[in-house]
Amino acid sequence: MIVSAAMSLDGFLDDVAEERLVLSNAADFDRVDAVRAGVDAIAVGAGTVRADDPRLLVRSPERRAERVSAGRPASPLRAVFSPSGELDPSARLFDRGAEDVGGRVVVYTSAAGARACPLGPEAAEVVATAEREVDLAAALADLAGRGVARLLVEGGGTVHTAFLSADLVDEVHVAVAPFLLGDRGGARFVYEAAFPQGPGRPLRLAEARAIGAIALLVYRRVNVLYVYAPMIP
Ligand SMILES: NC(=O)c1ccc[n+]([C@@H]2O[C@H](COP(=O)([O-])OP(=O)(O)OC[C@H]3O[C@@H](n4cnc5c(N)ncnc54)[C@H](OP(=O)(O)O)[C@@H]3O)[C@@H](O)[C@H]2O)c1
Repeated sequence: MIVSAAMSLDGFLDDVAEERLVLSNAADFDRVDAVRAGVDAIAVGAGTVRADDPRLLVRSPERRAERVSAGRPASPLRAVFSPSGELDPSARLFDRGAEDVGGRVVVYTSAAGARACPLGPEAAEVVATAEREVDLAAALADLAGRGVARLLVEGGGTVHTAFLSADLVDEVHVAVAPFLLGDRGGARFVYEAAFPQGPGRPLRLAEARAIGAIALLVYRRVNVLYVYAPMIP
């Protein structure tokens, strides 16, 4: 499972202004598009749907065509994590219009959220994973049952925090913008939590490169191998 985001040098995903802050550049958006084209599902938290109204599609016609010729949908399945189920049916993610070449949408919610969710079956499939919250392991198991082997989580900070602290993340991709937001900062890349990826078990830096003014950093989890070595008397 991959977590991918663009952030300011001081770790913000956004500022507090109404319109969306652009933290990345065209070449980096294209890189993300290639990552999207390589996965089976793209997921975000409800806060990102409310703030950014994303469509979560593969944009490049060539990449969509490649996916189709490999027998896959033009864009990956799309998933939203929303314990409350309070999602706006007019959000672009749920627009199944003629222009929409996106994969199906699944909303992972709680039992109460499923009752409150205003989305009809034509907009999304609503799956309750637990009584009051979203059980991420159950959501991942449900996705696996739909053939999702590679999942890309594209924000926001609350959902990053949940996945990272539950130790469910194999790769972290961060595009770091060369500025600080300080007191204008909004959502953060992660919030306070007990992270297993601490100094005692750091991630491994797999890639670091410049994309124009952006620094792309790719980290992978280190799988610790325990070898049974009996002591020879
Ligand atoms: N720079 C980037 O790459 C990037 C990418 C994505 C988003 N963003 C920015 O990030 C901000 C949104 O981030 P955010 O942290 O506010 O929201 P978020 O992580 O997108 O979504 C938060 C929502 O997730 C649900 N949630 C809460 N705890 C959860 C858990 N343990 N498991 C599963 N779902 C859970 C809740 O939904 P309910 O309210 O429905 O209960 C909560 O409101 C926006 O400003 C957006 O622009 C930036």
